[in-house]
Amino acid sequence: MSTKPNSITSEKVAYHAEIFANRVRKRYAHLAKRFKREHIDCFRLYDWDIKEVRAVVDWYAGHVVVGEYVRWQTGLEYLPALAKAVGEALKLPPERMHVRRRQTRTEEGPRYKKLGSHGKRFEVRERDLRFWVNLEDFLDTGLFSDHRDTRMIVRDLAAGKDFLNLFAYTGAFTCAAAAGGARTTFTVDRSDTYLKWAKDNLQLNGLWGKQHTLVQSDASVFLKRAFHQGLRFTLALIDPPSFFADKGLKKAFDINLDHPELIRSVLKVMKPGSTVFFSTNHQRFEPRLQDLPVKDLIELTPDTIPEDYRNRAVHRCWKMIGIG
Ligand SMILES: C[S@@+](CC[C@H](N)C(=O)[O-])C[C@H]1O[C@@H](n2cnc3c(N)ncnc32)[C@H](O)[C@@H]1O
Repeated sequence: MSTKPNSITSEKVAYHAEIFANRVRKRYAHLAKRFKREHIDCFRLYDWDIKEVRAVVDWYAGHVVVGEYVRWQTGLEYLPALAKAVGEALKLPPERMHVRRRQTRTEEGPRYKKLGSHGKRFEVRERDLRFWVNLEDFLDTGLFSDHRDTRMIVRDLAAGKDFLNLFAYTGAFTCAAAAGGARTTFTVDRSDTYLKWAKDNLQLNGLWGKQHTLVQSDASVFLKRAFHQGLRFTLALIDPPSFFADKGLKKAFDINLDHPELIRSVLKVMKPGSTVFFSTNHQRFEPRLQDLPVKDLIELTPDTIPEDYRNRAVHRCWKMIGIG
């Protein structure tokens, strides 16, 4: 038990674990059958539902990831106690329980760093698409399920388009666009590991081909080069981290300060009349989109957050049409 004054007592840990596990069990009973019918293997079972228990729980095809938004009061025994209670409630063996300690304000460094190399990845389904996930080696798993419905929206618009996926991570949006009949795709991320993962995801879905280009690059470097080379797109998704710093960059990127400039430089590589989606999961995002050279700017957030997410602002998402 922690020795800090006001830290949580063992009795309280046990109480939190009990109310938390009860809630997760109820949510599982409510959601599992429905998602099974839709062939959705990954969904959120708990989203900080109870004020005192600051955690999220995600279901991944029979595995569970319990994440706690860390605060010093809870100490090191807290998260394992929550995970153990949920494992018992859902009758899962300990090897199917995975824990994550999360910072509320995530910086790029720790967030995308590799945590281990157990290399245990497995396939999950999202409707008719499949993705590789890895619940051990990274803070994130390879699939952001809060964008499950955004992927459908992008897919429905993708036929015949030249799609740019910027900050693409493991290429889930690229798979969606490819499945929707995109003519070409560009998948841009600075991480080689994630780009390889994106290729694996395309291959897993039988979608890989020479129409798909993977680009390992800083996003702003890519955009400058694409502009000068005359590369132009007709559909784009921009989903940047909230903050990142690069050795090569003059200044760090802060989404609240820098998103208008980022979107402007994407619009420069879009053909007139093209659709751009912009998304962020920054929880205190302050949009400044009013002066962009776009028409039909609409916030899609309520339509892009799946029903299993109680946090109705887990991300925010806009759709805009460039005017060239
Ligand atoms: C929030 S994730 C994107 C999630 C993705 N859109 C999805 O839905 O699966 C951010 C990604 O940006 C990448 N990234 C971070 N800084 C970058 C930079 N300067 N240029 C390009 N990619 C970067 C990270 O490697 C990570 O894969």
